[in-house]
Amino acid sequence: MEPRAARLSHTTITELMIPAYANFGGKVHGGVILELMDKVAYACAAKHAGGYCVTVAVEGVAFRAPVDVGDLVSLHAAVNYVGNSSLLVGIRVEAENVRVHSVRHTNTSYFWMVAKDDDGNLRKVPPLLLEDRDQVRRFLEAIHRKEMQRRYAAELNNVESDLAVERELHRLGDERCTLVPGLTTELTD
Ligand SMILES: CC(C)(COP(=O)(O)OP(=O)(O)OC[C@H]1O[C@@H](n2cnc3c(N)ncnc32)[C@H](O)[C@@H]1OP(=O)(O)O)[C@@H](O)C(=O)NCCC(=O)NCCS
Repeated sequence: MEPRAARLSHTTITELMIPAYANFGGKVHGGVILELMDKVAYACAAKHAGGYCVTVAVEGVAFRAPVDVGDLVSLHAAVNYVGNSSLLVGIRVEAENVRVHSVRHTNTSYFWMVAKDDDGNLRKVPPLLLEDRDQVRRFLEAIHRKEMQRRYAAELNNVESDLAVERELHRLGDERCTLVPGLTTELTD
């Protein structure tokens, strides 16, 4: 398979934040931005893969700044890494206030996608042609992300299977929660 340059699948979606997207606080619902991120991730992955892709996992969704109604939101997506059937799409989200010409970086997130064929089987994607230092750095970073994700999943699995409520009850002492009367005795008996 011929390697394909990341620039060929760079994708940007720009959308005006209309009043219908607002939450009760007057800011834009996080879910609206997530939906746009999923769309741009799909478009970018599908361009690289040359067909249908699905979202497998989402990493690093943390909103650094709110998005206002009236903002123009642009989502810039690029393939950072490819495996066999998987691709990591990095997405930078910016909100522009057109009245004062200010642009805020609201978040950068990563969507793991896989390419599938018409029968739903995994499909191999073209290797990524890396053309500059940034692209090499992003590819290497993705390898670290993948390894960290594996370690995290394994550790979480251990926590879930080994967690003994009675042994860890003391940890709740510093937390902002209260047990109903009698529950501590019930849990430690
Ligand atoms: C993603 C999926 C194909 C993985 O199936 P699987 O039997 O675990 O397959 P594998 O372990 O062989 O993984 C296939 C690829 O997905 C990648 N993958 C699997 N789980 C992953 C995860 N949580 N994060 C990132 N990549 C993942 C693997 O690394 C592998 O990549 P590679 O082909 O580049 O080596 C399967 O779970 C699936 O189809 N999920 C549903 C996805 C979907 O429909 N999304 C839309 C939701 S509405």
